[in-house]
Amino acid sequence: MSAQKIQIFDTTLRDGEQVPGCKLNMDEKLVIARQLELLGVDVIEAGFPVSSPGDFEAVKAIAAQTKEATVCGLSRAVEQDIRIAAEALATARNPRIHTGIGTSESHIKFKLRTTQEKVMERAIEAVRLAKSFVEDVEFYAEDAGRTENEFLAKICEAAVKAGATVLNIPDTTGYCLPEEYGAKIKYLYENVKGIDRVRLSTHCHNDLGLATANSIAGVVNGARQIECTINGVGERAGNTALEEVVMILRQHPYLKLDTNVNSKLLAETSAMVSHMMRMPVQPNKAIVGSNAFSHSSGIHQDGVIKHRETYEIIDPRDVGVPDSSIVLTARSGRAALAYRLQKIGYNFDKGTLDKAYASFLQIADSKKEVVDNDLHTLVEEKNLVT
Ligand code: KIV
Ligand code: ZN
Repeated sequence: MSAQKIQIFDTTLRDGEQVPGCKLNMDEKLVIARQLELLGVDVIEAGFPVSSPGDFEAVKAIAAQTKEATVCGLSRAVEQDIRIAAEALATARNPRIHTGIGTSESHIKFKLRTTQEKVMERAIEAVRLAKSFVEDVEFYAEDAGRTENEFLAKICEAAVKAGATVLNIPDTTGYCLPEEYGAKIKYLYENVKGIDRVRLSTHCHNDLGLATANSIAGVVNGARQIECTINGVGERAGNTALEEVVMILRQHPYLKLDTNVNSKLLAETSAMVSHMMRMPVQPNKAIVGSNAFSHSSGIHQDGVIKHRETYEIIDPRDVGVPDSSIVLTARSGRAALAYRLQKIGYNFDKGTLDKAYASFLQIADSKKEVVDNDLHTLVEEKNLVT
């Protein structure tokens, strides 16, 4: 049986761009949107059109330039938001309005200062209004992670009846554990009438470092769309990282779930977003961090040099990184030194390598990393010959 397709809904330009310091100008948004389409995402959430004239224009321009992907605009369950989102999306080939409202006790009581009944009414009205403009309407139940399942199922069912095509179940505060989030998706799958006609979507935040794990628990339990961002950028601790979920599904084919993403473009897309958002990627970030395919301890280096798979579960070329790197530090062994010397043209016999290694350790103890220039100097100063 072939793998089922999980849709990738990228919200780098909406949930990601609202982060302090990550603001993009119009040209940058258009370039990133083009890259996302090239990458193969299914849905581009281009912005929140009512939020500012600049965001409205950006959504409009992205809608006009995008060929294949669905272009989505966010709106609260507010008439003006929905009308403006529809206007911004007017030229999109595949437009989607994403509308919704807070459903947890704390959102209803403290933020909206209303009742479950009123929230239900507003959700239905919002979906109906959005449906009068576009066929594809996604309903979000904000803070679904902390919403009790019975009410969540009720409001989701009402949204489906009103015309929603996608139900987004956000863990807005990054609160859930993977089993809990997975069970929530399963509960909805089993208790919402009409669920087979729509797509359930995950939207997880990373406040406890569980956004990726929760998204995977979601799709394992029946969700068929993951909302995520490049490099995991997003409010507070961020959103689910696109590159992580894509590679998790690809590395675990027995799950029989896959995406349309061309993983070979992940590294360049990550670098582009990081550069344009002026948001550095942490070196140890999974998949796209600068250390993700670097090996520095002697034991690991020896293994990787003998056979890559001893310490690498992903071929770096599959994510657009040309090769793994063997970094020389004071923890490196002879195998790594010989490997790097060979790369710059020195093939030493065992005795000469032993001499080189003794000098190498002295240099390595005095700096963080030994680079090619240090090796050339070492060979010249010690008069080592091949
Ligand atoms: O985290 C969240 O709940 C959101 C919604 C607006 C979809 O970003
Ligand atoms: Zn969010």
